Amino acid sequence: MTNTNRIPGASVWEQEMYDHLTSHGKVEGEILEAYKELAEGGDTSPAFRYLAGIILEDEVRHHQVFADLAEAIRQMGEVRSEEEPIPRIGGLRKDRHLIMGVTERLLEVERDDAKELKDLAKQLKPYRNTTLWGLLVDLMRHDTEKHIMILKFMRDRAKDTDL
Ligand SMILES: [Fe+2]
Ligand SMILES: [Fe+2]
Repeated sequence: MTNTNRIPGASVWEQEMYDHLTSHGKVEGEILEAYKELAEGGDTSPAFRYLAGIILEDEVRHHQVFADLAEAIRQMGEVRSEEEPIPRIGGLRKDRHLIMGVTERLLEVERDDAKELKDLAKQLKPYRNTTLWGLLVDLMRHDTEKHIMILKFMRDRAKDTDL
C-alpha cells in the first residue's frame, strides 16, 4: 500500500499518529454523514430529527478535532508552524493572572449549575419516558462536567511553572 501522506522529516511515532488520526478522521466523517442524513431525513418525526441533530452537532466538532490533531502532528513533524489549528499551551501561563482570577468563580458557577440541573432532573422525572426533557437536562449535566474539566485544566496549567 502506498502512503500518499508522508510527512517529510517526521519520526516514526509522528507518522503513525498522523496516519491513525487521519484514518479515524475518515471514519468520523462517515459517521457524520450518516447523522446528517438522519437529521435531515424528511420522512422522520421531528423528535427523531431533533435527537439526530444533537448528535450531529457533536460529530461535526469531533470531525474538526480529529482534523486539527492530525494537522498539529503534521506541523510538529515538519518543524514549521504556520497557523496552528491547536494553540500551544504556553499561552495559558502568560494569562495566569486572568485565569486565576476567573476560574475559581466560574467553577463555582458550574457547580451551582450542576446542582440546579440535578434538581431539575428530579422534578422532570414523571416525564422521563414520555418527553425528551429529562434527556436534555441530563445532556446539560454532562456538558457541565465537561466545562468543569476544561476550567480545572486551565487553572492547573496556569499554575504550572514548566510551561
Ligand atoms: Fe465522534
Ligand atoms: Fe457550563
